[in-house]
Formats: sequence, structure tokens, C-alpha cells
Amino acid sequence: MSHHIVEVKDLHFAYPDGHKALEGVSLRITHGERVGVVGANGAGKSTLLLHLNGTLIPQSGTVRVGDFPLTRKTLPHVRRTVGMVFQDPDDQLFMPTVYDDVAFGPLNLGFPHEEVHDRVMKALETVGADHLRDRPPYRLSGGEKRAVAIATVLSMAPDILVMDEPTSNLDPRSRRQLIRLLDTFEHTLIVATHDLDMVLDLCPRTVVLKDGHVAADGPAREMLRDEPLLHACNLEKPLVLQACPVCTRV
Ligand SMILES: Nc1ncnc2c1ncn2[C@@H]1O[C@H](COP(=O)(O)OP(=O)(O)O)[C@@H](O)[C@H]1O
Ligand SMILES: [Mg+2]
Repeated sequence: MSHHIVEVKDLHFAYPDGHKALEGVSLRITHGERVGVVGANGAGKSTLLLHLNGTLIPQSGTVRVGDFPLTRKTLPHVRRTVGMVFQDPDDQLFMPTVYDDVAFGPLNLGFPHEEVHDRVMKALETVGADHLRDRPPYRLSGGEKRAVAIATVLSMAPDILVMDEPTSNLDPRSRRQLIRLLDTFEHTLIVATHDLDMVLDLCPRTVVLKDGHVAADGPAREMLRDEPLLHACNLEKPLVLQACPVCTRV
């Protein structure tokens, strides 16, 4: 299924102030893979993800989603294929009610009203937010906003789900629920996060970014145990892999 492949080749990106955020990133993600993108603050995770749905267009190098290189022309195709959950839910929610926000994408794609309704209700139920449908999004709690932001993407039925720091600001229960939800997503999942325990739970593969390049790319269980690598990239072992100070104190 080549139409679900994400391929990034020698991607460079500098912000308008000249700051180089990506300096030659290459990776290839095939259909159904779950990939955790990790790295210290400023490593380039968000900048990389913003290229995967065409919020940013490559300045140098290429991004390919399925059969199409990402260009301004192929943006509509790329946006239909890749669902992007931004780091800040406020960047995703702008309609007067939750229902309208979740309906916005399918309406734009031209689906008939009945199908839009079915998609909205299914997406809201999936994230456990159907009771919020008539609420104004800006009045919701952080966790509720996050759930609705995810629903706005699920209602588009994307083949590839890209999420930037989905567990930040979530309480432990909402975090656990989100991980359970993502675990049911059958297509490709790409998650940038500081939550290395989530990566261990959810993503067999990890890409470690450092200063705008790929420092390592491989099995999460190996990468996240590799202390010299983690130290060099200013990361810490997932809690579940750290020796318990109580248990090890004999
Ligand atoms: N709008 C911007 N203008 C200038 N520099 C930026 C901008 N956004 C991000 N950067 C810089 O680009 C680098 C990569 O940022 P980012 O992709 O947000 O990293 P991460 O998501 O891994 O924390 C950082 O050094 C950051 O300061
Ligand atoms: Mg970021």
C-alpha cells in the first residue's frame, strides 16, 4: 500500500529568522507502523511533524506521502491522508460548538449531512466526548480539549495519524485513556513526545532527533535502554526502565 508510506529525504528547514531547525532529516515509515519521535526541547520534532501534513513545505529535500511528493499542488491529497493533532488544542478548535468543530473537516470534504453526522458522533464516542457535543470548545478543560482535537482529526478517517505531544498536560487517567485509544488505531501512527513511557507502550519504533538531525532510528525497546545515546540526546530513560530506588535498596 504505497499510498500510505511517509518518506522524508534530506529535509532541511530554516525559520524566517534564519534558525536552522532541520538539517538533513531522512526517514521512511511504512503502512501500519507506529513511530515515536523523541528528542529534547528544540530538537526539531514539531518542525518535522509540521512537514508531514504540509503545514510547512520543504525548503530543501523532499517529503512524500504515498504516491505524491508534498508540494502546494498535492496539499489537498496530503491533508486527506494525514490527520494532524497539533501540540496546542487551541490551534485546532475554532468553531462555536464541539459538534461544529468535529463536523468541519467532513463537511469540507463534501460528505452529505447524514454521513457527516455519523462521523461526528462516532469520533466523539471514540474519544469519550459525546456528552460535550454542544459545549463551546474554549470553555473545556485541557484534557477535554485534547480529546475533541483528536476527534476533529478522527472524523476525517485519516490513513496516517500524526500527533505532537498528545499527553502533555493530561492527568494520569486521561493519559491512560488516550494511550488505550491510540492502541486501537489500525493505521500509521507518528507521535512526537517527551513521554518515553508512552513510546514504550505504543510504538515499536523510535526516531531520536537531536539538533535537527536523526541521531538514532530503531526498535524502541533498544533505543530507550541505550544510556549513552539517551544522555547524548539530553533524554532520560523511561520510568518503567529505571531501577526502582526502593526495590534496589537492600
Ligand atoms: N517560529 C520559529 N521561529 C524561529 N525558530 C523557531 C520557530 N519555531 C521553532 N524554532 C526553533 O527551531 C528549533 C526546533 O524547534 P521545534 O521543532 O519546535 O522543536 P521541538 O518540537 O523538538 O521542541 C528550536 O531551536 C526552536 O527554537
Ligand atoms: Mg515541539
